[in-house]
Amino acid sequence: MCGIVAYIGPKEAYPIILKGLKRLEYRGYDSSGVALLNDGLKVYKKKGRVADLEESLIGKDLHAHAGIGHTRWATHGEPSDRNAHPHSSASGRLAMIHNGIIENYTQLKNELIKKGYTFTSDTDTEVLLNFIEDIQTNNNCELEEAIRIALKRVVGAYVIVLLDRDHPDTIIAARKGSPLVIGIGKGEHFLASDASPIIEYTKEVVYVNDYELAIIKKDELVLKNLGNEKITPFVQKLDLELAALEKGGYDHFMLKEIFEQPDTIFDCLRGRLDLGNATITMAGVQNNIEQLRNAQRIIMIACGTSWHAGLVAEYVFEELCRIPVEVEYASEFRYRNPVVNKGDVIFAISQSGETADTIVAIEKAKDQGAFIFGVVNVVGSSIARISQAGAYSHAGPEIGVASTKAFTGQLVVLIMIALKIAFEKKTIDESRYVHLLNELHAVPEKVKEILLLDEHIKKLAKKYADAKDALYLGRGYNFPIALEGSLKLKEISYIPAAGYPAGEMKHGPIALVDESLPVIFVATKGTHHEKIISNIQEIKARKGKVIAVISEGDDVIQNLADDVIKMPEADELISPILNVIPLQLLAYYIGIAKGYDVDKPRNLAKSVTVE
Ligand code: M6R
Repeated sequence: MCGIVAYIGPKEAYPIILKGLKRLEYRGYDSSGVALLNDGLKVYKKKGRVADLEESLIGKDLHAHAGIGHTRWATHGEPSDRNAHPHSSASGRLAMIHNGIIENYTQLKNELIKKGYTFTSDTDTEVLLNFIEDIQTNNNCELEEAIRIALKRVVGAYVIVLLDRDHPDTIIAARKGSPLVIGIGKGEHFLASDASPIIEYTKEVVYVNDYELAIIKKDELVLKNLGNEKITPFVQKLDLELAALEKGGYDHFMLKEIFEQPDTIFDCLRGRLDLGNATITMAGVQNNIEQLRNAQRIIMIACGTSWHAGLVAEYVFEELCRIPVEVEYASEFRYRNPVVNKGDVIFAISQSGETADTIVAIEKAKDQGAFIFGVVNVVGSSIARISQAGAYSHAGPEIGVASTKAFTGQLVVLIMIALKIAFEKKTIDESRYVHLLNELHAVPEKVKEILLLDEHIKKLAKKYADAKDALYLGRGYNFPIALEGSLKLKEISYIPAAGYPAGEMKHGPIALVDESLPVIFVATKGTHHEKIISNIQEIKARKGKVIAVISEGDDVIQNLADDVIKMPEADELISPILNVIPLQLLAYYIGIAKGYDVDKPRNLAKSVTVE
């Protein structure tokens, strides 16, 4: 949550920071601001989008060679100019941006109030900044030392980046629990929450670790731990192209990302699935095959859309590998007293690899002896680094706040892992194994076919855009797809939508059905097909409107439903990868029909790095 950018070097800092903030806006977009060091410290901030800040700064003197910028997702204090970052210290000497939450900020604030401090914002950030300045003043020490002392008292998660008016040649940053990347240019340095603001200037980066402090000048980067010992920076090369961060002719990132799925799924399979030799090559699985094959239990830990991928994986792993699977919301797991045993394998599923709840949950499980396997999209992210083994989903940068291509990437990776374990465990017979490899291989082409339904789905979206609420139903492998479809609709169109297993409908949700309720059935052919036909009849008997995602040629449901979306034939174990795509498009076009900003839905942020 919140995006941070900073620059120090020979170039003008403001345009670099502004462009970086626009790239990071997906992380939060309720206010933004910059602090620039040039002949003093100037702080500008504004409620609203980065574009509002930009407009408010037209005509101002923005000349500077060092600066910090922030785009906010509010935690402490409403979105407003005064709660926007950067914050200034009481003396005006320091400016700071912060991503994360300082949990003991009330205690620190009370201490400062007793000393006579007053505050201009409601934020935990301003408290931490003044706490640092107070230490600096009382100990008469350098800022770096004051930050170290302060952070030993801080409970919570943070990336902080500070400018000091009296040291215009230095930026200081520190991290615990929130992401921070430093880009190393020629005689210049860049800092950001992820690599997207940095990529067009340099590909050499250092990912800062927890409890590290970075002291950055234009031509020097010093990393230290909180004990003041120097750490050698580990410089990595980014494998990311600028074009991947742009809309490429689409109106929105979400639409671009939906349409990228034939390629992202192909990339995910490439080099792994070898149809000729009927093999799956995944180093993370192969190198840990004993651990995985002998797992007494698998626990999928994730949030949101990634949790839905875990739910699909539960069905897949139990069927193919015969290992019991539990699926946990990270935000519940971390606060419970869960039973975790040594033979347990945890799958940590995350697009960003930075979701705070997931990070804490897997750290807890790791402490209790579980083996952590990451299924992550963002290379080098925190979850990728905490995991003992893993497989990337290779979906490329996902900018739209509503997750689309990352989800299908997660499904493909999880199914490949399950197939590989099942093959090793001999819990799958060879013909089914080969059949499923062929089915996976065919997915990118089938996704292309599904995307040709774009216009048809756009028309359906217009027809149902005024719905007051909606119900999504599915069974078996496609129950999680009903949940994911309903989440997409809620996020993008703000229409209250519930997802249920279709068989559960009669236990309550059927009370919602009347002639105005659209009920979206994920009803492609499979084990439960007859049952789902009965469920559709139950809805029609109560005059509900049925929109059904069906297999091509399914005349029975076609004759029952008000509208259908016809899918290519696929094995039901593979079908969730395909069936989610029309639901992504439906949510997208309903959001558009209602005039909403689908890439930046209200109250949401792409990466939830707070509790
Ligand atoms: O980055 P992660 O996959 O860990 O994020 C988990 C959720 O926050 C995320 O899936 C969220 O639900 C999306 N907005 C869904 O579209």
